[in-house]
Amino acid sequence: MNKRRLIIGGNWKMFKTPSEAVSAAKALKVKLVNIEHVDVVVCPPAIDIVSVREILKESSIKIAGQNMHWENEGAYTGEVSAGMLIDSGCEYIIIGHSERRHVFGETDGEVNKKVLKAFATGLKPILCVGETLDERNSGHTEDVVGRQVRAGLAGVVLSSPQQLVIAYEPVWAIGTGVNATPEQAEEAHCFIRKIVADVFDSSLADEICIQYGGSVKPANAEELLKNKNVDGALIGGASLDPEDFCSIIKIAEKF
Ligand code: 13P
Repeated sequence: MNKRRLIIGGNWKMFKTPSEAVSAAKALKVKLVNIEHVDVVVCPPAIDIVSVREILKESSIKIAGQNMHWENEGAYTGEVSAGMLIDSGCEYIIIGHSERRHVFGETDGEVNKKVLKAFATGLKPILCVGETLDERNSGHTEDVVGRQVRAGLAGVVLSSPQQLVIAYEPVWAIGTGVNATPEQAEEAHCFIRKIVADVFDSSLADEICIQYGGSVKPANAEELLKNKNVDGALIGGASLDPEDFCSIIKIAEKF
């Protein structure tokens, strides 16, 4: 039995037009009506958030943004602010996803500014960390993940473990169909928890949710989620199909 409540996120990335997002949200609302033991978060593209919120407002399903800028407002064409996300109904914000880091060149320093803005505004960050295949193969997983966690959380004052989620997403497992083995995930999550204990304290670290992300699907969800230190999943591809996403949530309900 896991003593932490699991959190399952569906990261839709740059998929689903507003009308497709509305259909998916309607399906989730119906299918997830009886979920009690798991927190469910959907992360639609920014343009879909308001309409998804409209569908989900009377459900327990929460909404996350996928990215945001660290300034309150300004001349930043193409960006969205924390205030905009909050006003649209977001409770969480994904920060430092590997696609932001590796495709768009987001740095640890920028990730940290976003995390600090999330805390300042009351959005709960889902801070993503994870090593590339080269970094793993050269024995640098802990250096990289440890650096990302410490840099991402620099200057954060955490009063409650519910204010923060960390997602361990090894880059080599994202969208590849090759998930981390349960042992690899458990080992990385234990390491992250140790770093979090060092940054804050061990009782906070004990309660913080650390999700696993990278090719999670109904067929491998159970073996990953049953690990003591795996407190949920952040799901890309399999979250696009409400059927698959709900199957994973139902598996999570058992822990
Ligand atoms: P996949 O589930 O498609 O591998 O994506 C994981 C991910 O990046 C979630 O944020």
